[in-house]
Amino acid sequence: MKFVRFIMKNASLASVPKHIEHFSKFSPSPLSMKQFLDFGSINACEKTSFAFLRQELPVRLSNIMKEINLLPNRLLTTASVQTVQSWYIQSLMEILEFLDKNPDDFKVLGEFVDALVTIRNRHNDVVPTMAQGIIEYKEAFPQDLVTNQNIQYFLDRFYMSRISIRMLINQHTLIFDGTLNPVHPNTIGSIDPQCEVGDVVQDAFHSAKMLCDQYYLRSPDLILQEMCNGPESIVYVPSHLYHMLFELFKNAMRATIETHDKSNTLPPIQVRVSLGDEDMSIKVSDKGGGVPFRRIENLFSYMFSTAPAPQIGEHTRPPLAGFGYGLPISRLYAQYFQGDLQLYSMEGHGTDAVIYLKALSTDSIERLPVYNKTTLKNYKVSQEVDDWCIPSKEPLDLNLIKMYDF
Ligand SMILES: Nc1ncnc2c1ncn2[C@@H]1O[C@H](COP(=O)(O)OP(=O)(O)O)[C@@H](O)[C@H]1O
Ligand SMILES: [Mg+2]
Repeated sequence: MKFVRFIMKNASLASVPKHIEHFSKFSPSPLSMKQFLDFGSINACEKTSFAFLRQELPVRLSNIMKEINLLPNRLLTTASVQTVQSWYIQSLMEILEFLDKNPDDFKVLGEFVDALVTIRNRHNDVVPTMAQGIIEYKEAFPQDLVTNQNIQYFLDRFYMSRISIRMLINQHTLIFDGTLNPVHPNTIGSIDPQCEVGDVVQDAFHSAKMLCDQYYLRSPDLILQEMCNGPESIVYVPSHLYHMLFELFKNAMRATIETHDKSNTLPPIQVRVSLGDEDMSIKVSDKGGGVPFRRIENLFSYMFSTAPAPQIGEHTRPPLAGFGYGLPISRLYAQYFQGDLQLYSMEGHGTDAVIYLKALSTDSIERLPVYNKTTLKNYKVSQEVDDWCIPSKEPLDLNLIKMYDF
């Protein structure tokens, strides 16, 4: 029996590349916030959602699995990246088992929810495991600009794909597990049709403040200003917004404290929330000394942090800073529904971080990577020779110039 199972497993493993090839030929289908809400509204149909997901999840998984294979070999073969890849293969195989199952069978629908929960749990540690792979790679090999650019390009797409897959899984499992969310009965899956931004700001600030107090034994205060009269609300995923704000607050607090370490008082962190016709903007301002303009783009790099790297597996206390993933992943959350996250800094003074979200749920549409010929080309770009002069740091020897001046 064991032997038969072994043969079966290997046979299905052998067919994986064929399936990836097949499903990666389809482009993912981005959903709008409105479609997410319709999927979960009164006439939500579990059968329809099941039928959509058993096709769409393999498409999203396969599209990104093609890109994993384009990573530099020395990164692809690290133990961590191999582990991540094996999780993707396993999860793809588990969903494919539902392709020929009957959507009218309740048992099948129940098994599908269970399978999705198993898959979500399997992928919980993808970000730190991938980060570990990058650290191993960085330590073992000298870095070059092109490889760094490729890794940045890949990770942005890989983590965006992961955010989207988890969103689909969360919606289906939360809506169809038959229970109401006791804390937020009005949410539809993970979406709050009336997400009050001010409340999320307060929650995220409170958590960051507790962490900051643990580390530094002090923390700055919050000044929250909502630019219209009443509280501002939008259709959004509160957990995504919380994630972004929590990261921004941790950064702003660290910068404020390290810049004002000799002072008895700390300048507060100011948050302004503004809802327009098109945008919901949230600006987080600190007086933490700012960042030189030259370094701003670096801050969104997965290869960069000014804090010492925290030990992996040290789950006792969440680190205030360390992997350097706070900003890049937060920007992806903002971009996922067509928003953005930008940093404006004045070195010597402080930093403004602005989260832009779409005010209208019809504009909030998933932004998804698709694997195609352009993607392939983007991984192949080589380092081109710059056509701007490189300024020399040495002072110019004018005597030399005179010699040739006739
Ligand atoms: N508000 C800020 N003021 C000054 N520096 C900042 C601010 N936000 C981010 N930074 C700089 O950007 C780096 C990257 O931030 P982040 O992506 O959150 O990673 P981490 O906090 O883990 O280092 C930080 O290490 C810090 O040097
Ligand atoms: Mg941070």
